[in-house]
Amino acid sequence: MSFLELKDLRIHFPTDDGLVRSVDGLSFSLERGRTLGIVGESGSGKSVTSLGILGLHKGGRARISGEIWLDGEELVGASQEHVRRLRGKKMAMIFQDPLSAMHPFYTVGDQIIEAYRIHNDVSKKVARKHAVDMLGRVGIPQPDRRVDSYPHEFSGGMRQRAMIAMALSCDPELLIADEPTTALDVTVQAQILDLMRDLQRDFDAALIIITHDLGVVAELSDDILVMYGGKCVEYGTSEDIFERPEHPYTWGLLGSMPRLDREPTERLLPIKGSPPSLINVPSGCAFHPRCVFEERTGGLAKVEVPELLESEGGHLVRCHLPAERRRAIWQKEVKPNLEAS
Ligand SMILES: Nc1ncnc2c1ncn2[C@@H]1O[C@H](COP(=O)(O)OP(=O)(O)O)[C@@H](O)[C@H]1O
Ligand code: SF4
Ligand SMILES: [Mg+2]
Repeated sequence: MSFLELKDLRIHFPTDDGLVRSVDGLSFSLERGRTLGIVGESGSGKSVTSLGILGLHKGGRARISGEIWLDGEELVGASQEHVRRLRGKKMAMIFQDPLSAMHPFYTVGDQIIEAYRIHNDVSKKVARKHAVDMLGRVGIPQPDRRVDSYPHEFSGGMRQRAMIAMALSCDPELLIADEPTTALDVTVQAQILDLMRDLQRDFDAALIIITHDLGVVAELSDDILVMYGGKCVEYGTSEDIFERPEHPYTWGLLGSMPRLDREPTERLLPIKGSPPSLINVPSGCAFHPRCVFEERTGGLAKVEVPELLESEGGHLVRCHLPAERRRAIWQKEVKPNLEAS
C-alpha cells in the first residue's frame, strides 16, 4: 500500500439548494518523496479534497464516504481527535492566504514555536532556535531578528515563506499546498516554487500541490491529476499530461495556460462556457456542454458517465472517445493548434 491512498472518496454537502457533490469518487495514491499536482478550474473540488485529507470536514455537515489511508491508517473512519493529532505532526497544509492562517497578534516566531511545542517536548529556548533555523531555511533574511516580527510586517512573499516554515517545522510526512502562489506576483511565485522544490528534496515528504494553473505544477510535479466537477478526468505522469494528454479538458487547460511571453490576462484558446454547478452536474460526461469533440461520441457523452480507464502505463483518462482517436486528435488537430497560437 502507498504512503497516501484515497479510495473512492466522496465529500457531499447538503444545502438548502440541494446536495453539493464537491468530491465524487476520487481515488489516487502517492509515495513519500513524490509530488502530485492536482489541477482544475475554480470550483472543481480541489480545496474540499485537501481539507478532507486533513480531516477538516469532520464534525461539520459534510457527508464523507470512501477511504483515506495515510501510512497504513484509515482516516475517514478515525475520530476527529485522532486526526487532529496527526495534523501538524504527520501532515500539514500551506494555504493560499497566509494571513488567514496566521494569528495577527502573535509574532511569526511565537506561532512557529507554539506549533512546534504542541508535538515536541522541548524548552521554549530550543523551540525558538528551531524557529529561527526554519525561517533561515525558507530564505528569510536575518531570521534571528525577523522571528520577532508580526505577520503584517512581512511582505506577501515573506509571509508565504513564513507559513511554509510553520508547516515544515514539525517535519510532516505529507504536505498539502493549496494554491500556494496564487496571491503572489509572478516573480515571487517563481521564487516560492523554487523554494518548494528545494524543500521537497530535503524533507522527503509526500507533497500535493493544488492549483488552477497547469504552469505552476509543470516543473514541480512527478504526477498530475486533472479534476473536473469533483472527479478525476485525467491522471498521469507530468510527461503524460504535457506530452501526450488525452482528455479534451486537459487540452483546454493547456491552451489556456498563462505564458511568460504574454499578458497574464491573454488566453490562447480559452475553454468556452464555465465550470459546472456541483449541485446540478451535467448528465453523462460532466464536460460535455463545453467539449468541442462532444459530437464525435455519437450522443453517448450526454447520457453515460465515462469511466476512468487506463490508456497506457498508468495513464488514466475519463472520456468516451477510443484511445486511438484521442491520440490522433491530439497529434493532428490540437497540438498543431497550440503550437501555432
Ligand atoms: N462547506 C461547504 N458547503 C457547501 N458547499 C461547499 C462547501 N465547501 C465547498 N463547497 C462547494 O464545493 C465545490 C468545490 O469547492 P472547492 O473544493 O473549494 O473548489 P476549488 O477547486 O476551487 O478549490 C464548490 O461548488 C463549492 O461551492
Ligand atoms: S466523453 Fe465526449 S464530451 Fe466528454 S470529454 Fe470525451 S469527447 Fe468530450
Ligand atoms: Mg480552492
